[in-house]
Amino acid sequence: MVKDLILKNRSYRRFYQEVTIKLETLKELVNLARLSASAGNLQPLKYILSCDPQNNALIFPHLAWAGYLKDWPGPQEGERPSAYIIILGDTQISQSFGCDHGIAAQSILLGATEKGLGGCMIGSIQRQELRKTLKIPPRYKILLILAIGKPKEAVVIETLKPNGDIKYWRDNKGIHYVPKRSLDDIIVS
Ligand SMILES: Cc1cc2nc3c(=O)[nH]c(=O)nc-3n(C[C@H](O)[C@H](O)[C@H](O)COP(=O)(O)O)c2cc1C
Repeated sequence: MVKDLILKNRSYRRFYQEVTIKLETLKELVNLARLSASAGNLQPLKYILSCDPQNNALIFPHLAWAGYLKDWPGPQEGERPSAYIIILGDTQISQSFGCDHGIAAQSILLGATEKGLGGCMIGSIQRQELRKTLKIPPRYKILLILAIGKPKEAVVIETLKPNGDIKYWRDNKGIHYVPKRSLDDIIVS
């Protein structure tokens, strides 16, 4: 069921790093993005796939994790993602990418969830440094990175408290809570 899949598809930031992900699996996931909607059917998105530890280690330092968890610097060694999909915009096809990369990212993460994996969209990226490290040609805009792995944390959705605070938080057992606005709150008419 789509609802079950969407409920399970949370942003996970701690993983069983030792569980490897095959390149073929990443290709299957990108194929879901390939089949998804694209404005004007331009299909300007391109992808860099990474699933080997050496390459993953080049990407990780350029990502920022869970900005609201001020005293958590991100996943420690052993709990880092096993793979990354870097979503690029090909400026030789289009100069603007609209919401294509959001749609692609959701398709990929839903596919990952169906496979028993999980991940997190990362938009907070040191783009210049990552471009240099991976030698990404200037023609490609770095849009979004998907961190993927076997989730090692519990994520619970809760209803927004009356104070309206949208910040996610963790309890002392490490359970990650994500406040969501109620349906009544988001339907204007
Ligand atoms: C476009 C976009 C960019 C995001 N960038 C980051 C990021 O840089 N770092 C991070 O830890 N989470 C990032 N997230 C994950 C959000 O924090 C997460 O979606 C939100 O807390 C809600 O949790 P949920 O995905 O489990 O519903 C991003 C999400 C989106 C949609």
